[in-house]
Amino acid sequence: MKILAIESSCDETAAAVAEDGRKLIAGTVASQIDIHAKYGGVVPEIASRAHAEAICGVVSSALEGAGLGLEDIDAIAVTYAPGLIGALLTGVSYAKGLAFASGKPLIPVHHIRGHVAANYLVHPELKPPFLALVVSGGHTSLMKVADYTEYSLVGCARDDAAGEAFDKCARVLGLPYPGGAAMDKLASLGDPLKYRFNAGSVDGAEYDFTFSGLKTAVINLVHGELQRGREPDEAFRADVAASFTHALVTAVTSRLEKYILHSGACDIALAGGVAANSHLRRAVGETAEKYGARLFLPPLSLCGDNAAMIASQAYYEYLAGVTAGPELNACATKAV
Ligand code: KG4
Ligand code: ZN
Repeated sequence: MKILAIESSCDETAAAVAEDGRKLIAGTVASQIDIHAKYGGVVPEIASRAHAEAICGVVSSALEGAGLGLEDIDAIAVTYAPGLIGALLTGVSYAKGLAFASGKPLIPVHHIRGHVAANYLVHPELKPPFLALVVSGGHTSLMKVADYTEYSLVGCARDDAAGEAFDKCARVLGLPYPGGAAMDKLASLGDPLKYRFNAGSVDGAEYDFTFSGLKTAVINLVHGELQRGREPDEAFRADVAASFTHALVTAVTSRLEKYILHSGACDIALAGGVAANSHLRRAVGETAEKYGARLFLPPLSLCGDNAAMIASQAYYEYLAGVTAGPELNACATKAV
């Protein structure tokens, strides 16, 4: 079954064609990073307009890359939640039009399930049940995946998501938006134990995450330096990036370790934009190895937002009988 999927939940307009949930045929991602970089973050209204401009070209280019026409496609899939509402609505409206004009089924896909499904495209042996760890710009969630469409939340971020914390710290260190990838490189040059940051925990919710205190500690440290008339030099910035990353990664691996100790070793799939972080990949790998758990990592090209992952998850949603009619709406927030 060939599915054409559309993703527009944040600042990437993407389309892709995948077959039977496991084989990526072609995909295109149009990033809006250059547009939002000058504001230091995503401007929702501008994002919606940029999606509206890009969406036709992106879908055509995905079909062209696949060497297929719309007549060769069996179903249309779209991210309907969660995300920026105007951005989501652009994709949902376009997908509805395409599905109903062509008489093909429309499959709504949850963005976070999509991130997890990125792994299905590269790991044929990954099958539920497994534990999914999604670390992205908007989410930090530990979830049990009992079946392809059966998710239950183990823990999640109570305030800033990991990617958001990366981006805010990058900003105070003078790195361009989004700073996650630049922080990754900078952290490799610094001492992770120079500053004893701690992400902290949530009382009564041992698997939940809190990153806003960690972010504030970094911002206060940098502002303190500036107030004392000390311009942060390269060594200082690298040590801050390394210490912040170490604290964040420790918070993630400690939840993972706790889960394994409580529930036993299991298959683990990492996903989301921050899953591209080399320090996180290494640390999660070490934790998995320590407890004899199998770890599945998405390739860097499928960590950030893309439509291939939506096309993959859509296949399993379709098999579970999930399709939508013309009443499909977008949701800014929705449990996985
Ligand atoms: O999954 P994603 O594309 O969007 C959401 O669904 O939120 O994640 C984007 C986030 C951004 O915050 C970006 O800075 C972060 O992923 N990111 C990274 C790295 N590459 C991207 N964070 C840390 N290290 C990286 N190498
Ligand atoms: Zn995402």
